[in-house]
Amino acid sequence: MKKRMLSILLAAVCVFALAACGGNGGSSDDAKGDAEDDTKQEQKREVLVMATNAEFPPYEYYEGKDIVGIDVDICKAIADELGMELEIEDMAFDSIVAAVSSGKADFGAAGMTVDPDRAEQVNFTDTYAHSSQVIIVKADSEIAGPDDLTGKTIGVQLGTTGDAYSSDVEDATVERYNKGFEAVQALTQDKIDAVIIDREPAKEFIAETEGLMILDESFTEEDYAMIVAKDNDELLEKINGALKNLKDSGKLDEIIGKYITSEE
Ligand code: ARG
Repeated sequence: MKKRMLSILLAAVCVFALAACGGNGGSSDDAKGDAEDDTKQEQKREVLVMATNAEFPPYEYYEGKDIVGIDVDICKAIADELGMELEIEDMAFDSIVAAVSSGKADFGAAGMTVDPDRAEQVNFTDTYAHSSQVIIVKADSEIAGPDDLTGKTIGVQLGTTGDAYSSDVEDATVERYNKGFEAVQALTQDKIDAVIIDREPAKEFIAETEGLMILDESFTEEDYAMIVAKDNDELLEKINGALKNLKDSGKLDEIIGKYITSEE
């Protein structure tokens, strides 16, 4: 009886071992194959590197360690359409054009205004948002419109269109900051008389600060687009195609509406 039990047991062990061997061998190969396929697939999801400057709410800003915002959501949706993986590189705003033209980044998305000087170095995609440069002053300021900026000290974010326009104001002194919000802080400390910056960030910045207002009269009207290297027409067409789909499907408006809830 004992012997029989033993042989049954042995047989069972053998069957198990065989199954384990054969089966396992096969399945481990399969598993390996699958894993290889998976990594191949992952590798196939090419990385799309986006250069930005995450100091520009609601377009790009930090939420904890994450960079979020309108541009981030739009670019993630574009990357999805292209079957690519979006990677974000945060850098100084005035480094973005060079990062893209040198190939360090594949494209730039940073609430960037279409501008002829930039267009000499990089190509702009189709536009995806409208904006304007506004003037922020202290609530008790004597500056009531663009004409009153003559001879004043104006704060801007370095390398922005606000920087370029302020430099054209007669007798004005331009203070350039790395971050737009630093210019707003300087205004509250009376170090400067006004800040020229894009409307939506202006609204966000003054909401965080007491005693400031945005003048009714805008400085300029502008449009935002992304940038790609001059020789990268392939990516330009891909981004424009994806942008068109996002516009047609209503997804673009949905993203913008998620961040910009105000009247307008
Ligand atoms: N629209 C302005 C420009 O193109 C300012 C953009 C600033 N963007 C940013 N992510 N800091 O010059």
